Amino acid sequence: MSILVQNDRNFALSNRYFSYVISVEEQDILRQKYYGPPLAKPWEVLPVNPKLHRELSSSFEGIKNLNLNEALLEYPTYGRSDYRLPAFHAQNSDGNSIFSFHYKSYKILKDKPELKGLPSARGGDSETLMICLEDQHWNITLELRYTIYEHYGVLAKSSRFLNKGMHDITIQRLASSSIGLPAKDYELLHFYGTWSREFNEERINMPRGRFVIDSSRGSSSAAHNPFLAVMEIDTSEDHGHVYASTLVYSGNFAISAEKGEFEDVRIIAGINPFDFRWNLKAGQQIDTPEALHVFSENGLTGMSHQWHQFIRDRISPARFKNESRPSFLNTWEACYFDVNAKKILELADQAIVLGVEMLVLDDGWFKGRNDDTSSLGDWEADKKKFPSGIEQLAKDVQAKGLKFGLWFEPEMVNPESDLHRNHPDWILHVPARKSSLGRNQLTLDLSQSVVGDYLFEKISEILSCGFIDYVKWDMNRCMTEIGSNQLPAIQQGEIAHRYILGLYALLDKLTKAFPSILFENCASGGNRFDLGMLSFFPQTWTSDMCDPIGRLEIVNGASYLFPNDVMAAYIGPSPNHQNGRISSIKSRYLAGFFCASRGISLDIPNLEKEEIDKIKEYIAFTNFTSQEMLGGSFYRLLKEPHKFCWQFITSDASKVYLLYFHILAATNMSIPRVRLKGLNSKSQYYLKQEDLLLSGDTLMKLGFELPFLTNAPNIAAREVLKRDFVGMLYEFQIKDTPQ
Ligand code: DGJ
Repeated sequence: MSILVQNDRNFALSNRYFSYVISVEEQDILRQKYYGPPLAKPWEVLPVNPKLHRELSSSFEGIKNLNLNEALLEYPTYGRSDYRLPAFHAQNSDGNSIFSFHYKSYKILKDKPELKGLPSARGGDSETLMICLEDQHWNITLELRYTIYEHYGVLAKSSRFLNKGMHDITIQRLASSSIGLPAKDYELLHFYGTWSREFNEERINMPRGRFVIDSSRGSSSAAHNPFLAVMEIDTSEDHGHVYASTLVYSGNFAISAEKGEFEDVRIIAGINPFDFRWNLKAGQQIDTPEALHVFSENGLTGMSHQWHQFIRDRISPARFKNESRPSFLNTWEACYFDVNAKKILELADQAIVLGVEMLVLDDGWFKGRNDDTSSLGDWEADKKKFPSGIEQLAKDVQAKGLKFGLWFEPEMVNPESDLHRNHPDWILHVPARKSSLGRNQLTLDLSQSVVGDYLFEKISEILSCGFIDYVKWDMNRCMTEIGSNQLPAIQQGEIAHRYILGLYALLDKLTKAFPSILFENCASGGNRFDLGMLSFFPQTWTSDMCDPIGRLEIVNGASYLFPNDVMAAYIGPSPNHQNGRISSIKSRYLAGFFCASRGISLDIPNLEKEEIDKIKEYIAFTNFTSQEMLGGSFYRLLKEPHKFCWQFITSDASKVYLLYFHILAATNMSIPRVRLKGLNSKSQYYLKQEDLLLSGDTLMKLGFELPFLTNAPNIAAREVLKRDFVGMLYEFQIKDTPQ
């Protein structure tokens, strides 16, 4: 890893994964010269299109052929001969939006500085280049930060904007990062969805004009996960250049890709400028959230492996990195709101028989909460359901030998609650408009520190009993009428971002106060599944969709960015409560197999004996494999209509799991074959189910024949009785030490 500087004007950031080269060019304008595979001689790179004679183009300050409209600019602004989407857009006290940033100085830091009030990737084995640009007229400084790591193909970028002038500035757009890619045909990959249907993959040709994924819902949201990859045409799992971006941010974001007039592509990532207005007073500064970019020369698997390792090592709280997650029984789809102490203790006994390690009391435990119309905000045990309180219940559950987990939805309040009756002003709202409701609830105004302080106190009162091992932090609505009565009119455009800053302050305080509690991020499933939340909470409830077929697409999609370590799943009921499908326990179990946190949410007394036996077997296997689900390498081997095949190599490389799903049965089907990846070609791998020894070489070259679905009465090895929703797990154990 190195940050090289030539003549104080050329900068090359390189490690074994990529090089990123920028330089100060004419008029002290900062330009990007190169982003791609590591370069041996970065100074040989010339600026992209430094000066071209283009008929009818505008020239910067009248300088002949200095046309910024096709330059790859590091931090483009509006109105200075570049017509593409800028990184920065604001209004000055003259009422116009023309700013001009020019190079001033640079410095290199040995590690990585933290951002103010925002989570960001941790440093270590890293260097940071800070480039300072200035608008002399308005006396504004823009500090661009670039961190490069020794061991990861990730480039971290953010910006700090400092108003040293005499006048306030209204910022409308302040991107975290802008990346330019030279003219070429590209494809885009992103993930869209909604509740219970998160992470659907869409791959399209990069259109002319702009393609934007964003959120104006207050949370990053499942509608578009904050992830966009721009890649070479025909990029596959193993080949092609991929430029992928995400943000360490949980609020309104936007990531766009724009194909300019001259076919170059500009990627911009940051807070969504839509409805964002930040009044930066003279003397104040603001930091953007951090953008992370991965470059992969080895297609999408190469990209995913870069993200996975980085998220494990530099985003997820270090404390839980190597801690296997307990198998759990969650009360939600077993009991919904109908919970009480007697029932929970009975469930605890049943959970023990099944081999489960933790009991999680989900929604319904607090004052008056019998359905979703009331009580959010009143974080005290319901006296009728839990006369001895939560502390006693947690103690009793722990005394039986289980861990105990509890659900909260702290950011919300029902109008029907003491909290709302006592503090009607503590919600996001605007004057003269009746507030919209989502799941009968309102959003608390976390831009007010008094609200965060109250929540910290109320939640701490419960957690400080010392008997709570896990907290599920839920959030079940998108924001509407985003306004706060605590700020003047000119600052109302700041509230969505201030809410997220307030939320981060609260999460920071709580996770520091209760470092041994395992927190799980949930927003009706994956409605806020992003690296901002994962900086505080080591895992996420990936989706409320626990039907195996519904889950496959979700796990497959999420795996492009997220490692198995941060995902949670359970075996839910059949028929599935979301889509009504009837499925076997085995297929429900296997769909969530590659998640670090696994459990069940089932009405145990109403299960058949056979089902109970199966669950016991699966829970035992969950407990046995829980350590293996941390770290490791995940491969998407096959995704076709009705077929998914994934491979997972454990972090010590001693085991390989191959999971195949066949969704709808058909007649006279072909036999699919997959080539395994990442094995040691000289090693032997033992397939227990078939007492078969195969070399890594054969498995990677010839491949492995997936099971044949048949009606034959006598099933042979590698044959499965024909039916819908077949899931098969193959386990290979490495048999020798590779030479
Ligand atoms: C939504 C979550 O995704 C569910 O798992 C459950 O916790 C409910 N909220 C409880 O209200």
